Amino acid sequence: MAKKTVMFNWKMNPPTIREAEDLARASDHQGVVVIPPSLFLKPVADRLTRAKLGAQDAFYAEKGAFTGEVSVQELKDLCVEYVLAGHSERRHTFGEGDALIAKKTKAILDAGLTAVLCVGETEQEKRAGRTREVLKRQIESALSSVGGNRSDQVILAYEPVWAIGTGNPETPEDAAETIEYVKSVALGAIRRVPRVLYGGSVDGENIGSFFAQDEIDGALVGGASLKPDEISKMISVL
Ligand code: PGA
Repeated sequence: MAKKTVMFNWKMNPPTIREAEDLARASDHQGVVVIPPSLFLKPVADRLTRAKLGAQDAFYAEKGAFTGEVSVQELKDLCVEYVLAGHSERRHTFGEGDALIAKKTKAILDAGLTAVLCVGETEQEKRAGRTREVLKRQIESALSSVGGNRSDQVILAYEPVWAIGTGNPETPEDAAETIEYVKSVALGAIRRVPRVLYGGSVDGENIGSFFAQDEIDGALVGGASLKPDEISKMISVL
């Protein structure tokens, strides 16, 4: 079985550099990608020796008059290797649509970084039986311009919106089945089967049951990645 990856998405946490440094030290393990707020990338990078560094978002333009935004080149200069695109909070809290997410994905890949494209249905879409249709649209719109040549720089994260931050994860069996579908759609778009992570209320208790599924290549973790005891439990299954 290929090695699993765990990505720690801190979102807009913690409030101080000092706490960020402590979390970085606790997370510094092979197979981990630490994804802090962009303001803390440098101090976190300085604390990591084994874990890799990721960013939560990036704008698509190279440089210029885009107040508040961060470019992929700026991230690259801070040793970032992975960048999230289309996280559900970007889609639903900040109103990012498929076209913008496609441009950001392309910019990440063009810079030679790995894009972690996040996809997932809302509770309403799930109830309406539209999960596959939504996933297909999100994957194809973001990856259609990628083609085969940059396909090894693409990772996907399947994160059902209703499972994020709720303590109510998808079951590992259902997540694996949906991820199999995600891989088949991605294969059509980039002519290669990418690694696909599961995200949504993963913690130190349940991570092992997700990793027991062959189709699931890793986990994208939010809340539990801020708690030292959860971090050590998650690292222990890598
Ligand atoms: P959660 O967040 O682990 O807190 O559910 C996952 C994510 O948003 O990536």
